[in-house]
Amino acid sequence: MVERACVESIAQHEGQQVTIKGWLYNKTDKGKLQFLLVRDGTGIIQAVVLEDDVPAQTFEAAQMATQESSIIVSGTVRADERAPGGYELAVTELEVVQLAEPYPITPKEHGVSFLMDHRHLWLRSPRQQAILKIRAEVIRACRDYFDSNGFTLVDTPILTPAACEGTSTLFETDYFGESAYLAQSGQLYSEASIAALGKVYCFGPTFRAEKSKTRRHLLEFWMVEPEMAYADLDDCMHLAEEFVAYIVQSVLKNRKAQLELLGRDTTPLERVEPPFPRMTYDEAVEILHSKGLDFQWGDDFGAPDETALAEEFERPVLVNRYPTQVKAFYMEPDPERPELSLSVDCLAPEGYGEIIGGGQRIADRDLLLQRIEEHDLPAQAFQWYLDLRRYGSTPHSGFGLGIERTVAWICGLEHIRETIPFPRMLYRIYP
Ligand code: 4AD
Ligand code: MG
Repeated sequence: MVERACVESIAQHEGQQVTIKGWLYNKTDKGKLQFLLVRDGTGIIQAVVLEDDVPAQTFEAAQMATQESSIIVSGTVRADERAPGGYELAVTELEVVQLAEPYPITPKEHGVSFLMDHRHLWLRSPRQQAILKIRAEVIRACRDYFDSNGFTLVDTPILTPAACEGTSTLFETDYFGESAYLAQSGQLYSEASIAALGKVYCFGPTFRAEKSKTRRHLLEFWMVEPEMAYADLDDCMHLAEEFVAYIVQSVLKNRKAQLELLGRDTTPLERVEPPFPRMTYDEAVEILHSKGLDFQWGDDFGAPDETALAEEFERPVLVNRYPTQVKAFYMEPDPERPELSLSVDCLAPEGYGEIIGGGQRIADRDLLLQRIEEHDLPAQAFQWYLDLRRYGSTPHSGFGLGIERTVAWICGLEHIRETIPFPRMLYRIYP
């Protein structure tokens, strides 16, 4: 039997007879010579079918094969400078597993809406493959960082009894006659887990019924959230910069080819090393005013504000101590200025905006209860969360990093929709 090989490691098989199982990406018909570009998920190789070298039936199959047909080719691997990738396959056998119908995505330009309707096929394009590979590397790096720095993975529930990040973006569902909500964040459950394990992280899909269409928002996105007992805002910021730098450096090291395919200028990414610049919300407002932006102290930053702030620095910036009124109910107040919260956002450079949100959590039960009431949240659903402040409460902090925003930034993409295999956006749930 001929050994099965993958395109990625084809160089190891020079001179050998191998089989490649994949799909026909493109074809050039030169009469007695058929050049088939075969992709197998790891790369693309040129398979050459010469009429005189193969049975008539095999040559016919090569002639008939259509774009995206699933095919199995066997032949000898030989080095050839002219071939894309430096190697080609001199075909001796070819089997068309399924002859594809005329493929809707052709090399011509398609509109975004058409591509989104065909997302299940669009994923096969080299650009989408590169993004998916980078996404997988970002996720691998996230897990690797926490797993090797003393954090324990704790999976948090997706069906939850109450809001974490405000009631305006909740997805509600029926839970045998009661209301349940898709998790906006795993944070509250991670806070419970730190009293068992010290340092934890959760990682999973999170849901927000965002009613606006922007290039940064999805309705379903993936978030990785570390949480640490006995940790304050400074510890949180320190972790954030180490973590983000680790992710970026991992992608630079392990996904160079994909960044190149995307045409990403990696110079700004190479600068992403700790420490990151830090500034308070107050300082950020001053910068906005000095740049002539009309911004009211006490408001949350919009995308143009975040872009203007990040422009000031070459690395991601840690903006801390936002007014309590713009943040979630669980934020610990700044003891020196209680109108501020011990919160932090990490803003990515190059106009990509917030990739991390987090900070120090309220440790005191009475204050937490007061905030739950002020935010009109159902206290009953938070009894267990309040309990955490009754049995061994500690100062603690953590944050959440949005995977898709991070991938958009690292890849240099215009829009977040390409960062996740099947994006969920306003009025779009197909495919
Ligand atoms: O700032 P957020 O809302 O913070 C939390 O959910 C905290 N509970 C996390 C924590 O402290 N454990 O969201 C965190 C990050 C944002 O910085 C952003 O990267 C991403 O999640 N994010 C979104 N990404 C895509 N689409 C959306 N609609 C997003 N909303 C938030
Ligand atoms: Mg936020």
